[in-house]
Amino acid sequence: MATVDPVKTDALSDPYDIPLDQIDLSDPRLYAQNRWGEYFRRVREEDPVHFLADSPFGPFWSITKFEDIVAVDTNHEAFSSEPFVIIGDAGDDVPMENFLCMDPPRHDHQRAAVQPVVAPRNLAEMEGLIRERIGVILDELPLNEPFDWVSRVSKELTAQMLATIFDYPFEKRHNLPYWSDVVIAAPEISGGTIEREERMAAVEDMVREFSALWHEKKQQRESGAPPSFDLISLLQSSEETADMINLPSEFIGNLALLIIGGNDTTRNSISGSVVAMNQFPDQFKKLKENPKLLRGMVSEIIRWQTPLPHMRRIATRDIEIGGKQIKAGDKVVMWYISGNRDDSVIDNPDEVIIDRPNVRHHVSFGFGVHRCMGNRLGEMQLRVTWEEILKRFENIELLEEPKRVQSNFVHGYESMPVKLTPRAA
Ligand code: HEM
Repeated sequence: MATVDPVKTDALSDPYDIPLDQIDLSDPRLYAQNRWGEYFRRVREEDPVHFLADSPFGPFWSITKFEDIVAVDTNHEAFSSEPFVIIGDAGDDVPMENFLCMDPPRHDHQRAAVQPVVAPRNLAEMEGLIRERIGVILDELPLNEPFDWVSRVSKELTAQMLATIFDYPFEKRHNLPYWSDVVIAAPEISGGTIEREERMAAVEDMVREFSALWHEKKQQRESGAPPSFDLISLLQSSEETADMINLPSEFIGNLALLIIGGNDTTRNSISGSVVAMNQFPDQFKKLKENPKLLRGMVSEIIRWQTPLPHMRRIATRDIEIGGKQIKAGDKVVMWYISGNRDDSVIDNPDEVIIDRPNVRHHVSFGFGVHRCMGNRLGEMQLRVTWEEILKRFENIELLEEPKRVQSNFVHGYESMPVKLTPRAA
């Protein structure tokens, strides 16, 4: 088996110069160097259910067309999410179990226990707080001079939102996105660049902090404090999960899932929306002239960006997909990032068109029993962010090409220099 090189800066070939059966869609350079589009285009056209016999992540099937992705994602009996849903294996270093990586019925019980955190009533309560916080972040930004949008806005906002959901101390909020980044950024998991030692240390910190938070919340409950709607309190009030602290690998796995779920995805959609409005200035103009288009813009950005490029499954039996015979035990990767650019389902898929018909018809949130639990929260954060941006700024000019994340599981941005022009009074 080939090995993973931690930092990949070497150039990529033209996808048409590579034999079709050797095209490796898991190569993290495709994402760091923004070359994934042309690779997937060739595979979708010539071999949409594609097998690669040797890769740093072992042999795997790639599902690249929209309808095939939906077929795999909605068939959890034939395509299992256990033991893990990222292309590489987590190994035993970090014992973590969570409902994203479980099949029904266990999945269903645990999802039902945490689902109330994103119930409409909670979302409505969170919206005001998110608006207030994004307002403060935006008001502190420098005008007419360069700064990094990713660290000052996208990361900061998602850190604050996660601290709110967990009722985690605000002054330590940056721990949450840091843990989330580090846990999945190992070379052997997603082609990232984080060394094992750093990952293990981060996991230790996360376990310690979340255990302390659990005990603190429990004490508050027992001393008769009014019920609170943060995530840990919700877990403690459900019969299924009240004793989760005694199952350390489930406890930490589910909390990690919720910070990962709410972190990179929203952060990179916020950054991606700035890239998109620079790449498609006619759409930005349209939005400023008619802010009612914002809801459509949010869905369109989430499709176009596809913050999570893939989820993987293991076939539980022999099964045919797209005319190919997949064998029981085979690794099957659904490339959402490719399904969202499938022109047999979406017209002009490489373009951002904020008022396109059927704008919510995309695969960024997955389908089936694992369909994203936080989709409405993610959409709401992006909408509120842009409502507040439009009140304050005439333009967010991208000053140079953004630096992109090296990972086949996170499609995002490390940094992005921008300059803000305020709106005329
Ligand atoms: C633009 C934002 C987001 C995107 C694109 C996104 C994408 C996804 C995807 C692709 C899945 C797996 C779907 C499948 O396997 O079929 C998922 C699952 C999940 N997401 Fe999100 N997500 C986003 C925001 C959030 C937020 C804000 C949260 C925070 C609560 C969250 C929590 C979860 C959870 C808990 C799961 C596991 C669901 C399950 O296994 O039943 N997501 N998300």
